[in-house]
Parts: sequence; C-alpha cells; structure tokens
Amino acid sequence: MKLLSGKVAIVTGAARGIGAAIALKLAEQGANIAFTYVSDSSAEKAAALETAIINLGVKAKAYQANAGDFGACETLVNAVLAEFGAIDICVNNAGISKDNLLLRMTAEQWDDVMNTNLKSVFNMTKQVIRPMMKAKLGSIINMSSIIGK
Ligand SMILES: NC(=O)c1ccc[n+]([C@@H]2O[C@H](COP(=O)([O-])OP(=O)(O)OC[C@H]3O[C@@H](n4cnc5c(N)ncnc54)[C@H](O)[C@@H]3O)[C@@H](O)[C@H]2O)c1
Repeated sequence: MKLLSGKVAIVTGAARGIGAAIALKLAEQGANIAFTYVSDSSAEKAAALETAIINLGVKAKAYQANAGDFGACETLVNAVLAEFGAIDICVNNAGISKDNLLLRMTAEQWDDVMNTNLKSVFNMTKQVIRPMMKAKLGSIINMSSIIGK
C-alpha cells in the first residue's frame, strides 16, 4: 500500500515546474490528482501531465482556473469535490514573480503578484477548509519564496 493511496490532492499551477513535479510525486504515492493551470497556452502541457499521472494508475484531471480569482477557486473546488468526492491535500503552488525596482514596478504588476502569490492562498484555503474540517482531516501546503521574504 502506498503512502497516499485513495487520497485526493489538488495542486495549483501544476502544468509545469515545481507544481508538475509535486503532482507527479503525490501520484507516485497513490494520490488522485486534480491540478490547475491558468493560460490557454498551458493546455497542451496540462493534458500531457494528466496522461502521465493517469499512467501511474491514479485518477487525474486538469482544470483551467485562476488561483487569484476568488470565484474561480470556489467553482474549482466544487467541481473537484463533485468529481473526486473529497479533498485531502491542497498544495498552493501557483506563483509568479515580477521582480523589479519599485520605481519601475507598475500597480498592475503589483496586483498580479499579490493576487497570484498571496490572495490565491486565501482563495483556495477558504474553499478547502470546510470539507477538510467536516472530514476532520486535511493537509494544506503553501509554497513560498525567499523573494516573498
Ligand atoms: N523556481 C524557484 O526557484 C522557486 C524558488 C522559490 C519559490 N518558488 C515558488 O514555487 C512555486 C512554483 O514555482 P515554479 O518555479 O515551478 O514556477 P513556474 O513559473 O515554472 O510555474 C508556475 C506555475 O503556476 C501557474 N500559474 C501562474 N499564475 C497562475 C494563476 N493565477 N493561477 C493558477 N496557476 C497559475 C503557471 O501557469 C505555472 O504552471 C511558485 O509559487 C514560486 O514562487 C520557486
């Protein structure tokens, strides 16, 4: 029996990079995986990851959802609960960086970073804690960065 057999994990921003690696690692340990991507250009990579995860013998589904959008996260979590029946693990991985001198940073860039890296954690956590509290079980993992510090 694998460590996460039968568990359901949701990983945000997993079409590539660290999120994709986390999704694959959780799947290798037997977890069923719901994961998100945001832009149309990532759809192909998301489909490839979905297939790679299914080939590990677990369930997988990619969802296009902006983690910085509260309503989109609510819709996402409801869809995942309907499809998978539970959410045991939430990995808040989606993140962007727009490193720049404050002098050059636009208000739009600031909002993008705050919404994607910070508000997303509130958006997702707020949605997943209700089913997790009901189940008296759940793990929430938030990705951070030295840049955040
Ligand atoms: N790579 C590093 O060295 C490093 C270091 C410290 C922290 N991190 C953190 O790790 C996490 C992953 O980083 P990475 O290097 O894999 O980045 P990446 O750019 O390779 O991947 C980020 C993923 O998030 C997705 N994403 C972006 N905005 C999103 C949104 N609004 N909603 C949903 N998905 C969205 C992107 O499509 C992409 O798939 C980030 O939170 C990042 O801040 C990375």
